[in-house]
Amino acid sequence: MATAAAHQTYGAEEAGADTTYERAFDAAVAADERIEPRDWMPDAYRATLVRQMAQHAHSEIIGMQPEANWITRAPSLRRKAILMAKVQDEAGHGLYLYSAAETLGTSREELLDKLHAGRQKYSSIFNYPTLTWADVGAIGWLVDGAAITNQVPLCRCSYGPYARAMVRICKEESFHQRQGYELLLALSRGTPEQHAMAQDAVDRWWWPSLMMFGPPDDESAHSAQSMTWKIKRHSNDELRQRFVDICVPQAESLGLTLPDPDLKWNEERQHYDFGPIDWTEFKEVLKGNGPCNEQRLTQRRRAHEEGAWVREAAAAYAAKHNDTTGAMQA
Ligand SMILES: [Fe+2]
Ligand SMILES: [Fe+2]
Repeated sequence: MATAAAHQTYGAEEAGADTTYERAFDAAVAADERIEPRDWMPDAYRATLVRQMAQHAHSEIIGMQPEANWITRAPSLRRKAILMAKVQDEAGHGLYLYSAAETLGTSREELLDKLHAGRQKYSSIFNYPTLTWADVGAIGWLVDGAAITNQVPLCRCSYGPYARAMVRICKEESFHQRQGYELLLALSRGTPEQHAMAQDAVDRWWWPSLMMFGPPDDESAHSAQSMTWKIKRHSNDELRQRFVDICVPQAESLGLTLPDPDLKWNEERQHYDFGPIDWTEFKEVLKGNGPCNEQRLTQRRRAHEEGAWVREAAAAYAAKHNDTTGAMQA
């Protein structure tokens, strides 16, 4: 980073939020430079990043559940191998993001405790059930697709570790989106029953996917500040529109219909118009009243408890390894 003063370590913060540091931080952000873990940063910037990265990490690992539900029932070995790789990628995404959050002084244990206690959120999209095999395709095409639309601009986020984690995540999400599209295409071109199954999945996942971009701009509590800090580069409504514009021609190629009678090209705006979103449903799911909220958290807590021996064994191995290294060095 070129702005020297912004490189003051954040010990300076304890000495009193010197406006020099604050000015240097603002200048670095304005110049599109990256803020790194040891740089001074406002407390609110740090808190916003921890909240966003935690929610993002939690979404990655909770998001493993609805699809893992279909691993044992995948219709072929090829589909099973693809789905296993995808679900495993999501665990990796969680890992990158918890590690990135640790650079801000928040441990993974602390964030997981908050998730398990219901004190931190994850994306509401994962509180919907996966009723048929076609849902695996609809999730890949629409949910991973919406995630990419949201996350590609995060590769340019002002906080270095978050931006760098997103580069790899986005490459993998792109594979996820394509496998979902290809799965739906196979079903859409299959028997009438398979086509109907694909259509039904798209009907159920379309509106929840649009809600993944968050509330409309005029109701979004954190948006303006996040944009000033360049954590966020585009507004919720802008990203939602971009996603709709990408999906309409793709749905046509798939031979599937998006469940919105108001969807039509607007020549003047050079974008697709779309119908009103039912935010009442979004708010209910957000409050914890979604079809699978309870099930997702219960399963997460159980998986965490059942994995305790793995964490203990890994820690014991690391301690033993450190001892040996220490002894050799001595
Ligand atoms: Fe992911
Ligand atoms: Fe994904």
